[in-house]
Amino acid sequence: MTIATLDNAVCEDIKTVQDTLHDIKCLTKLYQLLRNVCDANESGENAHDTLEGLNLREIGHALISVLDLEKLFPLVNNFTVSGTNSLSGIVALVTGEEAHIKSSIGLPQSIGNNGIFKIGEDPIEWVVKYGNSIVVSDFEKDKRFNKHTMLWFSGNTLLCVPIKVRNKVVGVIGVNNKKYGEFYTDGDVRFLEMIAAYTSIAIKDSDLYSVSNKVNKIDQLTTTYHDKSNKYLPVNLRSIKTGAFSECDVYLKTAVNHEISYLLYCKGNKLFDDERKESFVKKNINKIYVAKNGNAQYLRYMEANLVDIMNDELSTRQEKIEIIYNIATNMLTDTLKSSNIFVIIERGKELITVILDFMSRDKEVYSNFKKVLVYKGNAPNHSVNVAVMGLLFGQYLGISTGDLLSLGIGLLFHDIGKMKIDAHTLNNEFDNLTKVEKEMLRKHSDMGYVLLSGTGNLPREASLIAKQHHEQYNGKGYPYGLKGEEIHYYSRIAHIVDEFETDLSKIAESETKPVFQVLQRMVKEKRRKL
Ligand SMILES: [Fe+2]
Ligand SMILES: [Fe+2]
Repeated sequence: MTIATLDNAVCEDIKTVQDTLHDIKCLTKLYQLLRNVCDANESGENAHDTLEGLNLREIGHALISVLDLEKLFPLVNNFTVSGTNSLSGIVALVTGEEAHIKSSIGLPQSIGNNGIFKIGEDPIEWVVKYGNSIVVSDFEKDKRFNKHTMLWFSGNTLLCVPIKVRNKVVGVIGVNNKKYGEFYTDGDVRFLEMIAAYTSIAIKDSDLYSVSNKVNKIDQLTTTYHDKSNKYLPVNLRSIKTGAFSECDVYLKTAVNHEISYLLYCKGNKLFDDERKESFVKKNINKIYVAKNGNAQYLRYMEANLVDIMNDELSTRQEKIEIIYNIATNMLTDTLKSSNIFVIIERGKELITVILDFMSRDKEVYSNFKKVLVYKGNAPNHSVNVAVMGLLFGQYLGISTGDLLSLGIGLLFHDIGKMKIDAHTLNNEFDNLTKVEKEMLRKHSDMGYVLLSGTGNLPREASLIAKQHHEQYNGKGYPYGLKGEEIHYYSRIAHIVDEFETDLSKIAESETKPVFQVLQRMVKEKRRKL
């Protein structure tokens, strides 16, 4: 059988791919493979082991058929494993941080077809992250991946390519353990990429695609925020009262003669109290609006929707952690400007509650936080880093979730007393300050305690963190030179993490910071001081 005699439908399919890829070499390779299969079938010989029983028309149709996805994946799997002379391979779809195996060859039965496994430090994660194909020639020497954590892998060689739909990686095709100890070639890469392109054409219009392409909550909110046709954001009443928009100008939407306009109802310096809220409820007004004005407002908007974001199944853990971190630093920036301590505390409580809920649901959250922490040495980043590290450290020490809430709030606001200190003193290097200025700066501990405890809204141990986080176990700290057990356990944790974060911020930026390891070392080295 020759190309000239190929069925018309198959020729059309190949033309589609040709138009998509403009890669004659790939096409040639594909033609050869298709021809080999056909020749083998026609001559009555055994076709390639895994392609036995399949004819050319089936392959061509299945690869582009939206209706035959369940049939498509095993075909793609067979075709790629055989076409590259491999001993095993998979076709998997990727959702969030999970890979769903749609077809496999040569895998242990415990994984098999329709298995689900978490992506992590393996070639699939790499392909999803960078959107490119990857070839591994010697796993033992390749430091990027841990062969032993890869359940679907055998042998020492691997080739993995992304299946992309509209530039988003929705799946991967992987082959590995090339026969006779050979390595994967450029031709193999092009061949797999070709099949991946075919597969993506098939997926594009399918129901499956519509599921994988559903917009996650973060993208949805971001799109709403950046929608240029509307300059105002709808916000629920609860978020206005003690939430992210408490100190923003509030607008009401009105329609006169079908003409929409927004009227300033309440200036940001006036709090939206219960009485006002009640008056809205009575008037049947359930939406209030705030103006869109920059990144800070965007993050307040995300903060107002944080619970929905955390419960969104389509957002990945890393996306959630990133947004939490950005919301938190934005909140701490607001804290320095805010005039209302009650609002600050309520916002902080909600944030820490969400973080704890997240930590209790997902034990691997530490590695995600490690990737997003930024060490800039400024007050908002410092306080958020201290809170995040302290919570993780507290969890590591076995503190219960309920008690972690007090610890987390105290850590988040441990330096809140600094809002009472003038900018000149705050922004200057400590060594350049006058004696009086140094004394003033040291008062931030007491001032923070007065602020937090004065609300009557926090457990004592949380407020004590502000007061005692510069005390040292050996009695050489400030403001009172407390010793040993005189310092509350949480305040001692706060001191460790505070020093640790400050030290890390002074170190030149590096990609990964061994947070826990350094913390543990500090505990050993400075036992007397801490
Ligand atoms: Fe401090
Ligand atoms: Fe601090």
